[in-house]
Amino acid sequence: MLHRVRQTARYVGSAGADDRHATETARILRQLGADEELVVAGILHDAAKPVNTLLWHRVAGVLLGITPRVRARLARGESTFARYLDHARRGAEMAREDGASERVVRLIARHHSRPATEDERLLARADREALP
Ligand SMILES: [Fe+2]
Ligand SMILES: [Fe+2]
Repeated sequence: MLHRVRQTARYVGSAGADDRHATETARILRQLGADEELVVAGILHDAAKPVNTLLWHRVAGVLLGITPRVRARLARGESTFARYLDHARRGAEMAREDGASERVVRLIARHHSRPATEDERLLARADREALP
């Protein structure tokens, strides 16, 4: 847990980190032999993260991983923190509206849930390794 908070703090420190995270996730997925659809999910998985997400949002988001019910309650509404906590669901909606396949939509929606398929495991691994 503390490791993830430190990792998150380091990640937020650099400019353009979100774009780099998206392209790096996609690059790792390609390296792992993922097909194009999975690579697309890798590029889009965090697209709904608010651009004005602050460090404390991310740190609190990591810490809230241990209390899903509190997390769910805080994820309602339109505040930056709510949109950050809810970015997987919102990102999946955006992808669906943009015409992404059901597989891509589902991968984005579930990318902060415990991986249940080989696709989800690959995306979770690339997502993790794409953090500096
Ligand atoms: Fe995410
Ligand atoms: Fe991510």
